Amino acid sequence: MTSITPFRPVPVPFARPIRLGVLISGGGSTLLNFLEKIDSGELSAEVPLVIASRPDCAGVSRARSAGLDCDVVERKSFPGTVEFSQAIFSKCRRARVELVTLAGFLNLIEVPDDFRYRVMNIHPALIPSFCGQGFYGHKVHEAVLAHGAKVSGCTVHFADNQYDHGPIILQSCVAVADDDTPQTLAARVFAAECQTYPEAIRLYAAGRLEITGQRARVVPARRTAASKEETE
Ligand code: GRF
Repeated sequence: MTSITPFRPVPVPFARPIRLGVLISGGGSTLLNFLEKIDSGELSAEVPLVIASRPDCAGVSRARSAGLDCDVVERKSFPGTVEFSQAIFSKCRRARVELVTLAGFLNLIEVPDDFRYRVMNIHPALIPSFCGQGFYGHKVHEAVLAHGAKVSGCTVHFADNQYDHGPIILQSCVAVADDDTPQTLAARVFAAECQTYPEAIRLYAAGRLEITGQRARVVPARRTAASKEETE
C-alpha cells in the first residue's frame, strides 16, 4: 500500500465541513474530543456515522446521547477481517463518509482501495515504539514505564492493513516523569492527542498532506488570491 510518486489524498481543499466516520471500541473519549472541537469551531467537520465494535462499550451510549447515528459491527459476526471490513466500509460509503477515523478501535481492518489514505488512526505512543498487536489502552503506558523511556507521546497515521502501521502524519511528544503511573502518563498523552488528532484532520481537509511511499509530509498552505493581494 505505498505510492512511489507523491500523492495528495485531498487534491482540492474542502470548502465545507469534512464528513467523518468514527470507529470506536471503548469509551469514545476521542469521539467526544472531536465533538468538542467541532462545537468550539476548531474543527470543521461533521460526524454522520459512528461504528462501535462492541455493543456494550460506553462510547455507544455517549455517541447516541450526542444525537449521533451509532451502528454496532462486531468482529465475531463475520468469518474474517475481510468480511468484517466490508461491512464497516459499506456503512461508511452509505453515510458518504469522507475520512474514517479510528478512535480507540481495537480490531484489525482491511482498507478497501477506495478508502486508501482515507483512514486515520491515533496511537498513544511514538510509533514505531510500543505499538502493534496487544499494545492498546494502559498496556501501552505500562510498557513505556517498564522500559524506562523518558519521552512518550501520540502518533496520528494513515491506517493500512497492519496494526499501527502506515504513513505517519503527526507526532507529539510528552515527557515521562519519574513518578508517573500508567494513569498519569495516559492523561498527559491524551491531552496531546486532543490537539494532534484534530490538527491532522484539519491538514487533511485542507489538502495539505502528501504521501510518498511510507512518508507523509505536510505541504505549505496554498496562498489564496486574497492572501496574495494582502502581501503584494
Ligand atoms: C485514545 O487514547 C487512543 O490513543 C487510543 O484509544 C484511546 C481512546 O479510547 N487508540 P477510548 O475510546 O476512550 O476507550
